[in-house]
Amino acid sequence: MFKILSKKEASPGVYFMEVEAPRIAKKAKAGQFIVLRVDDNGERIPLTIADYNSESGSVLLVFQVIGATTTELAALNVGDSILDFVGPLGQPSEIKNFGTVAVIGGGIGVAPTYPIAKAMKEAGNKVIAIMGAKTKDILIMEDKMRSVVDEVVITTDDGSYGIKGFVTNGIQSLVDRGEKLDQVTAIGPVIMMKSVVDATRDLKIKTVVSLNPVMVDGTGMCGGCRVMVDGKMKFACVDGPEFDGHKVDFKDLMNRQKMYRDEETVAKDHICHIGLGV
Ligand SMILES: Cc1cc2nc3c(=O)[nH]c(=O)nc-3n(C[C@H](O)[C@H](O)[C@H](O)COP(=O)(O)OP(=O)(O)OC[C@H]3O[C@@H](n4cnc5c(N)ncnc54)[C@H](O)[C@@H]3O)c2cc1C
Ligand code: FES
Repeated sequence: MFKILSKKEASPGVYFMEVEAPRIAKKAKAGQFIVLRVDDNGERIPLTIADYNSESGSVLLVFQVIGATTTELAALNVGDSILDFVGPLGQPSEIKNFGTVAVIGGGIGVAPTYPIAKAMKEAGNKVIAIMGAKTKDILIMEDKMRSVVDEVVITTDDGSYGIKGFVTNGIQSLVDRGEKLDQVTAIGPVIMMKSVVDATRDLKIKTVVSLNPVMVDGTGMCGGCRVMVDGKMKFACVDGPEFDGHKVDFKDLMNRQKMYRDEETVAKDHICHIGLGV
């Protein structure tokens, strides 16, 4: 059992949860994730390791409530425990001195960019974080991000904070001032990652994206997380989750993500019906 050490609702439906998992905290690297199961009846879901502390033996999760399992997770409190907590899984991010890197997070995708930004800075890069949100009130982790990077560029869809527009407007603002980016890492909704990749293809900037297909076992056994990259089938859980964005078949990814929509709606309705909805 894995004890919840702290829990905070950072913005409506977005939770920061610290979980006691000393062995994972000791081994974790930027870009990796865990798979958890709340209880005996629960489904397994993957969540990125948003931060880890080997001294306190804790792992930070940042998650958005969107369906049955994230609703159940959000209903747990400090002192409660999670039944299964497996990791670290997936390939770590490639961290080296590239020069100047932009680490781009959209919405909840800001959380997984934090450990990457931190590791990139420690490897000697100049790190610019582009953080996108629909509106100012739901932007997460601004202070934490500012503490590890050289510069933060914020974009909001409604213009309530930073540049009005999308993270791609943030990239454009850097290009317009003559910034030469050697690598971009983008994490967020699939449509956001696709837009970033379209923009950086023209600009000829190497771009890494972190893919989030449905995962079940997280160990390469079930085939649930199949993605097409460079015309070849890859398993996001063991070959990724990070891939060269210019080689990813985003159309295939978007189609696969819609596959279980009916079952997911039924599961969420059940959770709300039995009174666990938050
Ligand atoms: C490697 C990886 C890292 C992730 N990290 C985070 C994170 O740090 N924070 C966060 O909020 N979310 C993260 N996600 C997405 C998260 O796993 C889903 O939001 C979660 O599984 C939804 O489960 P649910 O039962 O609440 O909702 P459901 O109603 O079951 O699903 C809603 C949507 O979530 C996605 N989803 C559902 N089940 C899975 C699954 N087993 N694997 C992947 N996606 C699924 C689907 O796109 C689906 O349309 C990550 C996904 C992957 C693959
Ligand atoms: S989640 Fe089963 S193969 Fe990747």
